[in-house]
Amino acid sequence: MGDRPYVIDRMISAKTIAARVEELAREITDAFSHTDKLVVVGLLRGSFVFIADLVRELEMPVEVDFIEASSYGNSTESSREVRILKDLRGEIGGRDVLLVEDIVDTGYTLAHVTGLLKSRGPERLETIALLDKPSRREIDVRATWTGFEIPDEFVVGYGIDYAERNRNHPHIGKVRFLEPGAFDRPKAAEPRTHPQ
Ligand code: IMP
Ligand code: MG
Repeated sequence: MGDRPYVIDRMISAKTIAARVEELAREITDAFSHTDKLVVVGLLRGSFVFIADLVRELEMPVEVDFIEASSYGNSTESSREVRILKDLRGEIGGRDVLLVEDIVDTGYTLAHVTGLLKSRGPERLETIALLDKPSRREIDVRATWTGFEIPDEFVVGYGIDYAERNRNHPHIGKVRFLEPGAFDRPKAAEPRTHPQ
């Protein structure tokens, strides 16, 4: 996996992303207007560009923290077993928290991480995902705010990677393999049961 030649077909331009980030930031600023200092938690690593742009549009004091969860490894297929690789630096008990995710796909990561953060007793926890692939959902979760709903395509850019590549691509694009038939996910459509 990872060595096959592919091209990136543009899906969402940097300009369109910037406009949407501005809109989202306005909604978030309104929603947290009574908050002294919002704790913005980026889910590493795919959210690093999004969180950088988003916090600069928020017109309120913020703290920034990060948490890292395992996801795809070097494949395009979700592992469904979510592990915390790096935990928050700060305490979130009694605080207003915004969790920032790059993509909600099966939903396992968002469900697991929000469950973990809730168990620490924040005053309020909301979530934002830049992208959502609703057709891939296996767990019934939804971010409070979503940037763009996209079809079932594997995407890269704006922080999002394929096998650690293309995170610095300024647009969001879909991966298209050049060898015919080389990229399909036959297992993705099969129903799965939650591991617990
Ligand atoms: P979920 O647990 O299946 O919802 O997966 C969420 C995580 O999988 C995201 O945080 C991404 O890191 C990764 N992911 C999902 N779809 C894509 C994609 O199209 N490109 C790159 N990473 C993805
Ligand atoms: Mg991720």
